[in-house]
Amino acid sequence: MMGLLAGLSVLQAIFIIGQAYALSNGITNLWNGEKLSGQVSWILLFFIFFMGRHLVILFRDQRLDNYAYDQSSQLRKKLLEKIFRVGPGIVQTQGTGNTATMALEGIEQVEEYIHLILSKMTNMMIIPWILLAAIFWLDWESGVVLIVVFPLIIIFMIILGYAAQAKADNQYKAFQLLSNHFIDSLRGIDTLKLFGLSKQYGNSIFSTSERFRKATMSTLRVAILSTFALDFFTTLSVAIVAVLLGLRLIEGNILLFPALTTLILAPEYFLPIRDFAGDYHATLDGKNAMTAVREILEEPEAATEATPLPEWQADSDLVLNNLSFSYQDFQALSAVSLSVKGNQKIGIIGMSGSGKSTLINLLSGFTTPASGEIFYDKQNLTSFKEQFWQKQLAYIPQNPYIFQLSLRENIAFYFPTATEEQIFEAIRIVGLDELVNELPEGIDTQIGEGARTLSGGQAQRIALARAFLDQERHVLLFDEPTAHLDIETEVELKEKMLPLMENKLVFFATHRLHWMQEMDYILVLDEGKVVEAGTLNELLAHEGAYLRLSQRLKEGA
Ligand SMILES: Nc1ncnc2c1ncn2[C@@H]1O[C@H](COP(=O)(O)OP(=O)(O)OP(=O)(O)O)[C@@H](O)[C@H]1O
Ligand SMILES: [Mg+2]
Repeated sequence: MMGLLAGLSVLQAIFIIGQAYALSNGITNLWNGEKLSGQVSWILLFFIFFMGRHLVILFRDQRLDNYAYDQSSQLRKKLLEKIFRVGPGIVQTQGTGNTATMALEGIEQVEEYIHLILSKMTNMMIIPWILLAAIFWLDWESGVVLIVVFPLIIIFMIILGYAAQAKADNQYKAFQLLSNHFIDSLRGIDTLKLFGLSKQYGNSIFSTSERFRKATMSTLRVAILSTFALDFFTTLSVAIVAVLLGLRLIEGNILLFPALTTLILAPEYFLPIRDFAGDYHATLDGKNAMTAVREILEEPEAATEATPLPEWQADSDLVLNNLSFSYQDFQALSAVSLSVKGNQKIGIIGMSGSGKSTLINLLSGFTTPASGEIFYDKQNLTSFKEQFWQKQLAYIPQNPYIFQLSLRENIAFYFPTATEEQIFEAIRIVGLDELVNELPEGIDTQIGEGARTLSGGQAQRIALARAFLDQERHVLLFDEPTAHLDIETEVELKEKMLPLMENKLVFFATHRLHWMQEMDYILVLDEGKVVEAGTLNELLAHEGAYLRLSQRLKEGA
């Protein structure tokens, strides 16, 4: 692409020179008293060069459009793939709003950036020098004037460029903040309304957008100022050239033809740099967006070379050795060790905030442990971000996400080829039949955001149905699957869930004690540490952390 652009710039320069040459030849001949009819060929030549120049620009813009579009689509694809690979952590640190605007609007700005910067840069780097050579050949004195001002303009542009950059950075930060703030308030709109805070929050959005407005205005001020100053400078330089040429014409030191051609070429000499400077601030947004996208793309990833290991079986074993994990600088898990052999049910119990979800997220491969070792069938893994593992996993998060799809599609999520009977069986098991009867189009009713919203308990049951539908998944991760249910419903559901948990590897995080009776091994978590571990009988006999915890939980209940 750069080669093509450079070639087109050279072509443009040649056409510009040809244009000036034809025009001043025609005018000089007229001045010398020749007939107008004799100048038709010069005038025609002028128009041919003129057309040629603009056709080149048209062709270049078309090619660049496609190129910029391709590049930005690829970038968007890479960005989205990266986000999906790295997982939810990155969205959490960047903010949902910011991530969404980055992937949509940011990439568009990058497209514009590629388009503008490439064409203007090559023009600026090539055209002035060819024109300068022509001017030197015509009249070296004017060439000297033009060459002297050029570095001055460049220095001046660099200074203003820095100023604009600082302003644009500021503007981009404000923009990111605004995106996050806006999505945040949309999501929290019910909370805001309930607490009567929507007015106050509205004011805070107002001040965020004010900040953005001010940042934008000050970027524009610098941009307009620099455009004005540059135009002033270049016009002044052209004027100097014109005055000098005029004086020499009067004194008879120069002929009309070279003087006129030089004068026509002088503004063209400055045009590319003015073009570049005029759009420079417009490209800064794109540049910032590109940097932000790059930052995400360069985010380190755990090596995910596929380790094709066998599926979990009755004689498989898994060893966690001193795993720890931190959110930024908060150590949420430290030195968690566990050894599992075959299809066991591992209970993870602890007070709220003790690190249960963090451990489940680690096991699901959403996050990567900061230190520690994992051995799956004696094979050392750095994390659970492994295809073979995630393929056999069914994960029921604490707050399951319901996609804006039909109930059927939401349930058949892990297992899209499920038959009607299988889906209805799963619905029956988790007790969603009442809901299905109530929905206008049965299991084909659209649910999720923008459609019929479900209660927290219903959402959890859908997540459970998802997990139970695909019996091929041998590893189940539960994160408080019954937290949104009342105790009667929970007991009823438990009866149905238990048989489905047989012959599987189950990790079950909860703070409901009664589940522990069904578990083969229990980890008691407190402040990110395993404070006690063993079978229920061992823990009861030990009279330690588990008993204290159950006391506290019972008092709480
Ligand atoms: N994204 C995050 N960034 C920083 N700290 C976090 C993040 N997520 C969780 N934490 C902190 O890590 C600790 C453990 O959180 P975790 O969600 O694992 O607890 P939990 O045992 O699942 O609690 P609960 O029973 O309330 O679901 C908490 O102190 C929490 O504040
Ligand atoms: Mg939790």
